[in-house]
Amino acid sequence: MIRTRLIATAASAPDQVITNDDLSKIVDTSDEWITQRTGIRERHISSGENTSVLVTDVASQLLHRASVSPENIDLIIVASVTPDYGTPSLACMVQKEIGAANAVAFDIVAACSGFMFALSIADKYIKSGVYKNAIVIGGETLSKIIDWKDRSTCVLFGDGAGGAYVERSEEAGIICEDIGSCGEQYDILTEGYVPCSNVFNEVPSGIHPEWYVHMDGREVFKFATKNVIKSMQKVMAEEGLTEADIKYIVPHQANVRIVEVISRKLNIPYGKFYMNMEQYGNTSSASIPIALNELNEKGLIARGDKIIMSGFGGGMTWGTMLIVW
Ligand code: ACO
Repeated sequence: MIRTRLIATAASAPDQVITNDDLSKIVDTSDEWITQRTGIRERHISSGENTSVLVTDVASQLLHRASVSPENIDLIIVASVTPDYGTPSLACMVQKEIGAANAVAFDIVAACSGFMFALSIADKYIKSGVYKNAIVIGGETLSKIIDWKDRSTCVLFGDGAGGAYVERSEEAGIICEDIGSCGEQYDILTEGYVPCSNVFNEVPSGIHPEWYVHMDGREVFKFATKNVIKSMQKVMAEEGLTEADIKYIVPHQANVRIVEVISRKLNIPYGKFYMNMEQYGNTSSASIPIALNELNEKGLIARGDKIIMSGFGGGMTWGTMLIVW
């Protein structure tokens, strides 16, 4: 059977690290509040690098690690809610920077589920025989869309990018997935609203552009626990797996309390969930591939291991994937 296999992983983050204590000098918060409510201690924040810089760094590392030349890349997909431009896409900028002249390149938007959605698309192109390989990246500079005066959101997020080089394989790879959307709840997590203002139309008073992230934290918490649990149960049932069959679960790195609930309700040991939000915060579409890369770089996974990646995000969306490493 043809599968899509993850051959190499990579990650990139700005050098600048901002701690919870640093944030307590900007807004009325404390290391204790942030650590207890979220599990986050520090995050990488851009000193000027835009998202294209981070995703290009990831793509260059992937080429090197997979020993693939850029002209042999068929497909580049970048997931992001913080691109440099409306157009060009980040993927086209990556294409230019790495010299992948023969690739098809485009971006997708599925917020924190973005990497799962992008990987799902790459998987379909590869399984159908259209393309042989792809670079799939999630990358964000969320620091540019955060209201740094709003303590309820500014403590949660960080900047970074992560990705994978994937290839057609007959041995291992993506086994099954469950991705989904619930547009009904789109307004519990929003960012980047642009009203339709033009010379022929006066925008009613009270309606204005809103660049910053707005979130109903409690509703997102409920959405995440409900849908990630259902999605993981579905994927494990489809393959008849129990937790004993799974080496690691790489969850979206939003909040340790969300992971604690998922672990408890699914009766999966907490230690099987790989987490690094303590150092990165929530990097949206980059969070799962950054964590996966860390797991890989630390040598904690071996070929043949079964891994579940599962995320949730704005839209609202969710995505779970079972892979054989
Ligand atoms: N420092 C100190 N106090 C704070 C802070 C802060 N940074 N932020 C909020 N508070 C205060 C509030 O003002 C409130 O005070 P009050 O009781 O006097 O009104 C109190 O703390 C409790 O606020 P809540 O919002 O109810 O806190 P909660 O326990 O729900 O935690 C949080 C908030 C962490 C956002 C939580 O709701 C959560 O984790 N939600 C899940 C959403 C999530 O993880 N989103 C990440 C991004 S979205 C995504 O990745 C898809």
